[in-house]
Amino acid sequence: IPVENFDLIIFGGTGDLARRKILPGLYRRFCAGQMPEKARIIGAARSEMDNDAYRDFVRVAVTEFGGKTASEANVLEEFLQRLHYVPIDARGDGGWADLAKLVRKDVVRAYYFSVGPGLFGDLAARLTKHGLADDTVRIVVEKPFGRDLASAKALNQALAEHFDESQVYRIDHYLGKETVQNLMAVRFGNMLFEPLWNSQYVDHIQITVAETVGVAGRGGYYDKSGAMRDMVQNHLMQLLCLIAMEPPSKFEPDAVRDEKLKVIRALDPVDHHHIVRGQYADGPDGHSYRDDAENLRSFTESFIAMRLNISNWRWAGTPFYLRTGKRLKARSSEITVVFKDAPHSIFGAEEGRHRNMLSIRLQPNEGMTLDVTIKEPGPGGMRLLDVPLDMSFADALGPDAEDVPDAYERLIMDVIRGNQTLFMRGDEVEAAWAWTDPVIAEWEARNDVPKPYEPGSAGPEDAMMLMHRDDRRWREIKT
Ligand code: BG6
Repeated sequence: IPVENFDLIIFGGTGDLARRKILPGLYRRFCAGQMPEKARIIGAARSEMDNDAYRDFVRVAVTEFGGKTASEANVLEEFLQRLHYVPIDARGDGGWADLAKLVRKDVVRAYYFSVGPGLFGDLAARLTKHGLADDTVRIVVEKPFGRDLASAKALNQALAEHFDESQVYRIDHYLGKETVQNLMAVRFGNMLFEPLWNSQYVDHIQITVAETVGVAGRGGYYDKSGAMRDMVQNHLMQLLCLIAMEPPSKFEPDAVRDEKLKVIRALDPVDHHHIVRGQYADGPDGHSYRDDAENLRSFTESFIAMRLNISNWRWAGTPFYLRTGKRLKARSSEITVVFKDAPHSIFGAEEGRHRNMLSIRLQPNEGMTLDVTIKEPGPGGMRLLDVPLDMSFADALGPDAEDVPDAYERLIMDVIRGNQTLFMRGDEVEAAWAWTDPVIAEWEARNDVPKPYEPGSAGPEDAMMLMHRDDRRWREIKT
């Protein structure tokens, strides 16, 4: 779909997200020929600087984070000509008239609030006051979208005072990942899987988002959030929704979001026996979570594993196991659908358990593996063996795979195209908090102490036990 001419205004245009993700992402789309000739990007932030200084800032950011395309110097200079900068006071009136002069009315206008949620309301109000907003502009907001239901509702209200829901694009960057969208293609584009996609055939589903990084450098934010607020309420919840939802009638924003919302609303409250919280201890490099978070008495979790139930006809009786954590043994995100045992083994009990498993790898090495049972080759009789039918998307797609846009690039372009399918609706975010709040309140009331785990491990032993108790096992975390 061709991209229309646009003015993209980035509030927080000198911030970390702009530097690492938004601007390099826009540059890559520029290189891919997706930025119309008259499209412009306007950075707005508190610092006093002119266009040239901002272009210098962006040049450095793109060179550092733009990937291999960054080496093409003349293209980069061309891109930089699209950039402008306006110093702005989000809580006052300074700079707004200058911005109003710059922003064109006859193109797509998107305002990216790449700032803390505390400023969403201020920015929304000033856009209206200074004549920069009408019912055609688009607003992009980032997580954290609140820290509980009450604050998320307040944010939704602050935005709703000025904008219609159809103008608001709430980013969960996991929805922009190539393989996350592939989940829908695999489920709803194939006849093979969907008939088996229910509690009659699926024993359980595992979702793992493992990271090797710790929280050093962002402990201030993280220590007030923890894995539950930082990852589960949003990213893992979105993955759960896509894997569990009913087929939407169309791949259209509200059709998809209605189905996701139904999943969240059907989640049972979690029993605290079904949750394991962990915090990474000292590693060989001598710093623990508490050192990184600069809070030596912190009880915040850097790891969480949980067992969830979805109370609906499709999933009653099939548990979902979720886990995510920092400083684990590998960076690896994977969803695995474990099918039930065949009802009867004609090969005898000694052949043990063989199960089909469909694993969808989100990152790295995006791809899919289907474990199937075959006969062990050779003359040794009817011995069974599980082998993976393995498909790496990079191998399957060849050189084209390199042009796959990263999550932010895709989502920003979707904003410009006006496609909200991969963005969270206000009621979805609220429903996710409504489910999250009591879980957090429960462990706060008990002063729950997270279990220490070794950096470089798969998390605390108790997380293994969570599965073992149910006679199940986590998939190994490996790259
Ligand atoms: C962010 C979290 O939303 O997602 C981070 O705040 C986390 O804590 C990051 O590291 C993970 O994203 P990705 O794309 O690297 O898997």
